[in-house]
Amino acid sequence: MTIGFIGTGNMGSALMAAMASRYDLCAYNRGREKLERICETTGARPMGSAQEVAWNSDMLILAVKPYIIPDVLRDLAGHIRPETLVVTVAVSLPISLYEAALGSGTKIIRAMPNTPAAVGAGVTSFCCNAACTEADRDAFIRAFSTAGITEELPEKLMGAASALTGSSPAYICMLIEAMADAAVCQGIPRAQAIRMAAQAVQGTAKLVLESGKHPEQLKDEVCSPGGTTIRGVAALEQSGFRGSVIAALNACGEAAKDKE
Ligand SMILES: NC(=O)c1ccc[n+]([C@@H]2O[C@H](COP(=O)([O-])OP(=O)(O)OC[C@H]3O[C@@H](n4cnc5c(N)ncnc54)[C@H](OP(=O)(O)O)[C@@H]3O)[C@@H](O)[C@H]2O)c1
Repeated sequence: MTIGFIGTGNMGSALMAAMASRYDLCAYNRGREKLERICETTGARPMGSAQEVAWNSDMLILAVKPYIIPDVLRDLAGHIRPETLVVTVAVSLPISLYEAALGSGTKIIRAMPNTPAAVGAGVTSFCCNAACTEADRDAFIRAFSTAGITEELPEKLMGAASALTGSSPAYICMLIEAMADAAVCQGIPRAQAIRMAAQAVQGTAKLVLESGKHPEQLKDEVCSPGGTTIRGVAALEQSGFRGSVIAALNACGEAAKDKE
């Protein structure tokens, strides 16, 4: 199966890195330099136009910014083979917009991946249009499983998924950076501080996923009565830590709501 990418920026190249060892890849990007760099590292074939990628692809992944999507759809109309599965990763654009441009019989999957895809540890939420078959859905899950886990959701929840997983690498990096800053304040060298903070975040996430315990229980297990950890928890509560996280994801989810 050949997977084609239109747009090889942050998200497109993260997915290409994940899929490269299992799939034949081809790609087109507006700027040649970015295209050639990712093709060199992944072995993907660079193409000269979006149409050329479309003709060569069994699965066509649109990874350009949402405001560019209408231009790309205009370029692609009439150039997509009927059996090709079109996957869009653009935030806030409904499937109906793609159907209007490409025809309602076009197989379309709307997906919301995240950049940890580059290291095979991503989350991709997705929903399929009515033209997709069970085999299309399976092919999508197989391809995106190289980038991490997949979660099927109704289309109306794609904005919420965008906040929870698409954008959260930014928030989690802010947390890691702040943890490292505190460690540097207390004398740990910066490089070690970042490595230790990132491992603590990764390890805790793994514990949540593998223990099956509620996060609250895992938190309580670290907080001895009268101990040191609960003092940090109290300080976080005083500065509205949980409220801030909830407000951030709600603001992001609101901004990510569909725009026709
Ligand atoms: N970044 C994330 O974490 C993330 C997460 C989930 C979903 N997404 C979605 O992924 C999509 C891409 O985001 P991104 O962060 O990867 O943006 P990005 O880094 O700016 O990448 C977009 C790429 O599209 C290329 N491009 C622009 N116009 C083009 C055209 N007409 N034909 C072909 N290529 C074109 C750009 O090339 P030039 O730079 O040469 O112009 C650029 O390399 C967006 O729709 C976004 O909603 C992103």
